[in-house]
Amino acid sequence: MTFVVTEDCILCKHTDCVEVCPVDCFYEGPNFLVIDPDECIDCALCEPECPIDAIFEEDDLPDGQEKFIAINAELAQKWENITELKPPLPDAEKWKGVANKIEHLQRDS
Ligand code: SF4
Ligand code: F3S
Repeated sequence: MTFVVTEDCILCKHTDCVEVCPVDCFYEGPNFLVIDPDECIDCALCEPECPIDAIFEEDDLPDGQEKFIAINAELAQKWENITELKPPLPDAEKWKGVANKIEHLQRDS
């Protein structure tokens, strides 16, 4: 079992989630971050910290977000670890809740 970062995080990246993770299993790309499913201990601490509710348990994902299980697993192997809060992306408010943000996901760090 793991928790999963979903599409709403793309282009927002508030980073409140990383501060509470006891095993530091968040990994950061240019406009999104992910959870390493092999490191996540399923503690649920991060889920309520996200101000835009982008984090879900893998068995409780909203419809259409299932693809983010594989995306989190893939990109956690590629991106750098992040453990400290930083400012959200500059247009986070503008992108809040926008549909189909996956088109804007930047995979290269
Ligand atoms: Fe970290 Fe716990 Fe969230 Fe998993 S559920 S990413 S261990 S804070
Ligand atoms: Fe993203 Fe929410 Fe964390 S927007 S960076 S999952 S606090």
